[in-house]
Amino acid sequence: MATEQQTQDTNAADAASAGNTETLTVTDNRTGKTYELPIEDGTVKGMDLRQIKVSEDDFGLMSYDPAFTNTASCRSSVTYIDGEAGILEHRGYSIEQLCERSTFLEVAYLLIFGELPTGPQLDRWTFDITHHTYVHEDLKQFFEGFRYDAHPMGMLLAGVGALSTFYPDAKQIDDPEERYMSAVRLIAKVPTLAAFSYRHNMGFPYAYPDNDLNFSENFLSMMFKKTEAKHVPKAALSRALDVLFILHADHEQNCSTNAVRGVGSSDVDPYSAVAAGVAALYGPLHGGANEAVLKMLRRIESPDNIPAFLERVKERGEKLMGFGHRVYKNYDPRARIIQQHMDEVFEATEYNPLVEIARELEKRALDDDYFTSRKLYPNVDFYSGIIYEAMEIPANMFTVIFAIPRTAGWVAQWMEMHEDPATKIARPRQIYTGARERDYVAIDDRDGPEKIVGPPARRPKRPRRGA
Ligand code: SDX
Repeated sequence: MATEQQTQDTNAADAASAGNTETLTVTDNRTGKTYELPIEDGTVKGMDLRQIKVSEDDFGLMSYDPAFTNTASCRSSVTYIDGEAGILEHRGYSIEQLCERSTFLEVAYLLIFGELPTGPQLDRWTFDITHHTYVHEDLKQFFEGFRYDAHPMGMLLAGVGALSTFYPDAKQIDDPEERYMSAVRLIAKVPTLAAFSYRHNMGFPYAYPDNDLNFSENFLSMMFKKTEAKHVPKAALSRALDVLFILHADHEQNCSTNAVRGVGSSDVDPYSAVAAGVAALYGPLHGGANEAVLKMLRRIESPDNIPAFLERVKERGEKLMGFGHRVYKNYDPRARIIQQHMDEVFEATEYNPLVEIARELEKRALDDDYFTSRKLYPNVDFYSGIIYEAMEIPANMFTVIFAIPRTAGWVAQWMEMHEDPATKIARPRQIYTGARERDYVAIDDRDGPEKIVGPPARRPKRPRRGA
């Protein structure tokens, strides 16, 4: 009876003699044993490491990759990125062509259903989205509970989670019709919740959706409509916003999409899974970077201050927000497209002096080996905020604007995950570094640092509303 090792050796010999080179031959120097790991799509399966043991009762090897920097978490056909070449494609179509010839709603359809829609398909999709933009009136009461200065991303996060309570049938995630309706409702209602959060901050009454307007025009109307009977935004602004929505629609397994897939893998409803994506996007290292870029440009204040600022970045006292990317080690193609649209926005709005600082900052950084040697180039967030500000959108709304189109990408990835037979509940392992097998100690017998954990007792810094 061949031992396991003899079988392994035979497999290795067979593979080699069969000329099958799509394998990794590893030798465990602790035991001298050799293993043949199949290579598939440029990866080896994590579970293939578990057979590598030092003894029968050994758990076996795992891989350690804290931020998944070199780990493929899934198979996906939604978005392709080549970080070195600066390529971004959705279902095989280049981001450049989509920005030039498509619309956000058509790209949302492409992401979710895999093909560009025919005329009738796009008409039905547009009709369905347009006629689901209202939110339940109880959600308005819900928003009334927020402080006047609540951050709009916090309100959006809560609002999207709250949507799950209005559509309990969305829990039937295996029902294709329920999945379609959840996709329509999320894409249609997130802009309404986004605009409501802005109106709440401003103390304005809510402006309801206007079905005569297209997706981007309607969002701007819900944001800026005042007493006029109908608010029709300038065509240059709604078109520029639609391009920005296309640019932000999906970006393969980024932090927030990973959150949506991770939370969604528990079979929770899609509203709750997307709320997790909103929470992840809120972070300044991810979607919150566009707001952080504007604050950074304001702190720099003048092109004359750029050299000193860049020195502080090199001394690690600052981060150059809007620069760097986990995947792009070249210019983010989206940043290039955004720059092409800046001038048309500035023709329709007040010129934004921050753009001079941004352009000089980019020029100096890209002339500096500290940044180019680390492959730090402008990403999608570096210029987007300047355009939003020119549209009179406040900085605390920039990440909310990012979340609107990214909802289509999150939904597409959530659907793809549930259609993938390899999907299981996400449950990583760990390297345990803590204590073991300690006996309980009565409180009077405990000694240890006298320091009380936690900050000193604080008095509330800001007067509560109505104080
Ligand atoms: C988005 O993943 C996506 O696709 C995200 C996104 C999407 O569409 O979903 O594209 C949207 O999130 C864009 C990124 C927005 N974030 C920012 O602009 C924040 C600033 N950027 C960084 O924090 C950083 O570049 C990240 C978070 C974007 C990427 O970080 P990584 O891949 O973990 O890189 P790293 O931290 O390992 O940095 C490598 C080196 C380090 O230097 P050394 O320690 O090797 O000397 O580069 C340095 C870092 O210190 N570095 C920076 C920097 N980013 C990286 N130094 C100064 N300023 C920066 N912005």
